[in-house]
Amino acid sequence: MVDRFFRTGSPDEPQSAGGPKQAGFRNRIGSWLYRPAPIIERRGADEFVPCHPEPLKQDPNILQIVLGARHNLIGGWTSKYYRAGIDSFRIARRQIVFVNTPEHVKYVLVTRHANFERKSPQMRRALEALLGDGLFISDGETWKRRRPLVADIVHKRRLPEFGQTMEDAAGALAEEWERLPGGAEVELTEEMGRLTAAIISRAVFGKSIAREAAQQVIDGFSSFQRHADSFNLGYFLGADEGWRAFGGKGRRRAIAMVHEVVENVINAHLAGEGDAGSMVDLLIRRNQRSGGAPLDVTALRNEAATIFMAGHETTATTLSWVWYLLANAPWVQRKVHDELAEVCGGRAPTLADLPRLRWCRAVIQETLRLYPPVPLLPRQALEADMIGSVRVEKAALVMIAPWLLHRASDLWDRPNHFLPERFLDGSRIDPFAFIPFTVGPRICPGMNFGLDEATLCLAILAQRFDVVPRAGYRVEPVCRLTLRPGGGLPARVLRRSSGRQS
Ligand code: HEM
Repeated sequence: MVDRFFRTGSPDEPQSAGGPKQAGFRNRIGSWLYRPAPIIERRGADEFVPCHPEPLKQDPNILQIVLGARHNLIGGWTSKYYRAGIDSFRIARRQIVFVNTPEHVKYVLVTRHANFERKSPQMRRALEALLGDGLFISDGETWKRRRPLVADIVHKRRLPEFGQTMEDAAGALAEEWERLPGGAEVELTEEMGRLTAAIISRAVFGKSIAREAAQQVIDGFSSFQRHADSFNLGYFLGADEGWRAFGGKGRRRAIAMVHEVVENVINAHLAGEGDAGSMVDLLIRRNQRSGGAPLDVTALRNEAATIFMAGHETTATTLSWVWYLLANAPWVQRKVHDELAEVCGGRAPTLADLPRLRWCRAVIQETLRLYPPVPLLPRQALEADMIGSVRVEKAALVMIAPWLLHRASDLWDRPNHFLPERFLDGSRIDPFAFIPFTVGPRICPGMNFGLDEATLCLAILAQRFDVVPRAGYRVEPVCRLTLRPGGGLPARVLRRSSGRQS
């Protein structure tokens, strides 16, 4: 087994090409004061332990927590957090209750949902200028009213309508890859971002949305994520609602880019000029039919932007990690190829094949376990409560971290290994230990959409191509809002001779 153990950004180690981008004076000072955890990755003839930060040897101090949160929200945990448990500590004036057992996850997200439905001020403040009162960050009456509306339009029974869009978009990317000159390199997070953006933008805005308009939304979201601040100091200093996030000109421009396109699409639909069957179309029609006061253009924009944001980046990062994992575990890749040959023969996979693509689905689930796109689920306690033996103060930060829960050594066999076969018989998985879509009333309404989309795109592309990451390239998981391969994933895509017969 080859051991790889490296410290990112250390002077004697070359930074991965493009490595986590650190721009500006504040970040330069930050990286001088703060040393990121070394990254572990181990590869053997028949086992693969994919990249993850080494647990810290001792608890970080407040300065390290603040700087660490700005660099990478998953890097600052000691090994005790990689076990099932519950803990309470303080950062400045704020109580943090850390919940990492299936039993207590159930208590917070299901049993006492009403007391813990509220997102933390960090998350609300970071996203409010972009999403307004959109479902992802709303709570109380607004959330209760909007949830059935949004859940209905992304519901799994509507998947067959979107299946063709998924097949077309993955097929189109495959055609582009076919035309690449031999040995050409692509950047996988960009490619997967383009793919899932094509799918979600057609699903949300309609098939006739102009390519440039869709690109403007994607660029706006990426720029917004770069400018988002993942640590709200005010909340820790005692302001229960946190401080407003000020992101400067770049952030304002990013928000305007997204809002402009989404508002135009909504106005076109309201004027009767949009595509029938798009999510925006359904949102407007359901909204007009609902008994209460109908949503105005801003509220419709917030919900459409929320669905786009929630459905784009999450699936894109999942698919990016999939290629990294498969490329390093050829024995799993063989299972996927054998299954595709058996189920589909020489034709392209379709949505109807998914129930029989068990390995493809298991690979996606194991990817979501190892790299949950939403690795932290921070909540704010509405009222004082008791979680197990821990007394929770009103307005405390209650933190559930799929990143840690999915790697707890007493809940999972070889938690850091890539072992998709653990999902082949799904009945053995504890639903409160595996929560990439969270659980309870706030569960991701797009779960089936995202799972089917990722599985289908994997099947269509894996049937035709092998993806070979750049030799020697070091991957690091970095979380700001979502968990992404920091610095991207450069790779070559090679046509498989025994893939689909075109
Ligand atoms: C692999 C793909 C996906 C993953 C891992 C994922 C994960 C999640 C998670 C963890 C949450 C809850 C966050 C929290 O409680 O803080 C969430 C919420 C949400 N997701 Fe997804 N998601 C995925 C795909 C999608 C897709 C494709 C859509 C839409 C088509 C979608 C729409 C939403 C919406 C609207 C919410 C807010 C729900 C609420 O607060 O009631 N997601 N997602």
